[in-house]
Amino acid sequence: MKHIELDIRHLEGFITKNEYNAFQKELNVIHPMLMNRRGKGSDFLGWLDLPSGISDNEIDAIENAAAELRAISQIVVVVGIGGSYLGARAVIETQKHAFSPWLSPAASPEIVYAGHQLSQDYMADLLDVLEKSAWSVIVISKSGTTTEPALAFRILKNQLEKQYGKQGAAKRIVAITDEKRGALKQLATQEGYPTFVVPDDVGGRYSVLSPVGLLPIAVAGIPVREILKGAAEMENRVKTTPDMEQNPAAKYAAVRNILYRKGKAVEFMVNYLPALYYITEWWKQLYGESEGKQNRGILPHGVSFTTDLHSMGQYIQDGLRVIFETTLSVEKTKREILIPEDDANLDGLNYLAGKDLQYVNKMAGLGTTLAHVDGSVPNMHIHIPEITPYYMGQLIYFFEAACALSGYILDVNPFDQPGVEAYKRNMFALLGKPGFEEETRKIQERIKE
Ligand code: PA5
Repeated sequence: MKHIELDIRHLEGFITKNEYNAFQKELNVIHPMLMNRRGKGSDFLGWLDLPSGISDNEIDAIENAAAELRAISQIVVVVGIGGSYLGARAVIETQKHAFSPWLSPAASPEIVYAGHQLSQDYMADLLDVLEKSAWSVIVISKSGTTTEPALAFRILKNQLEKQYGKQGAAKRIVAITDEKRGALKQLATQEGYPTFVVPDDVGGRYSVLSPVGLLPIAVAGIPVREILKGAAEMENRVKTTPDMEQNPAAKYAAVRNILYRKGKAVEFMVNYLPALYYITEWWKQLYGESEGKQNRGILPHGVSFTTDLHSMGQYIQDGLRVIFETTLSVEKTKREILIPEDDANLDGLNYLAGKDLQYVNKMAGLGTTLAHVDGSVPNMHIHIPEITPYYMGQLIYFFEAACALSGYILDVNPFDQPGVEAYKRNMFALLGKPGFEEETRKIQERIKE
């Protein structure tokens, strides 16, 4: 069986062999700190044992709940924000048909998302579709009190109850939340919604291999056991050794920090396949929220090539030299399209006839890497054999483990997010939330004309 591997050959000239080898010493300290749960935020390391710690019974329960939702729904709305929805969306988008709503017969159910922003136009458009469909909701919030998903759920629950009545609606709602605490837990208990638990020691952005990610993924018809199998393979490689040559997560954590210390403060995650767009979005959240604190951290950014070569490509080639790139490099696409011969050949493309489109994509990628390296942008590649659930499992665990190691290298707590509270306090003060009276007075004073 092949593995996900980190290829650093295009870092030559940016990192010396000595710098690379010397970093192993730091990893020999950091890796045991993570594995022996002695680092910052060590009460949030439950994800280290996801997948190996998930029981067969739990997987059965997830599969059964997914089958029930699939049987009664044309559309399933996944309500959540940040780590409570991005992991599931990342995996689902890698597996779905790019034009699934127009397939005939349509793929069923279609997974859509809500509660990840506050747009009322988006919500109104969604309700237009839902009121004419058979639909259900998976509502996910560990705290059970996050404003965006709580508001979305209030609106959707109201709509479900209008369509199906209170009892009918309760059969179409699954809640994923804390085992004991929070408003969502209370509501779920009161209304009798089936519930799955976000483990106490697993933070939102590390929760994709818990019911938070697995239930929506299973509802999308993706075999979660394959994902867990792939993740378990990576778990084994990551846990066994700090050796960068054996442990790709350690290697990635090391290399990005060597580059950061040399002034490369911005990492662009590059994809050449739109199906990987949400993997980058999830990675941005995982790394941005885990590392960006105490006035430090690598800024995670994402680009989709070749599309963005016609926009951001200029900056990457020629702008401020603070960037390095990590490319998600897929060996084998799901499908093949051969370029046809054309008699007139007015576009001059007959030299490509008989080749497949991915061959051209690959050459565009290689050409871009070489050009960016020439423009002083260090490049590394994450080789992914295929975009299958198995390899997506490997990729998820790889990124989670590397993020934790990298956070420890940066000497931050990769499992908290204190900075996220600032906007919430201002928003609550502006909205006049009970308990925020003093903040409301101060903020009104501040914004007075
Ligand atoms: O990764 C995180 O911890 C956050 O992004 C949370 O997932 C996000 O804020 C949603 O929180 P909750 O699940 O409590 O609604």
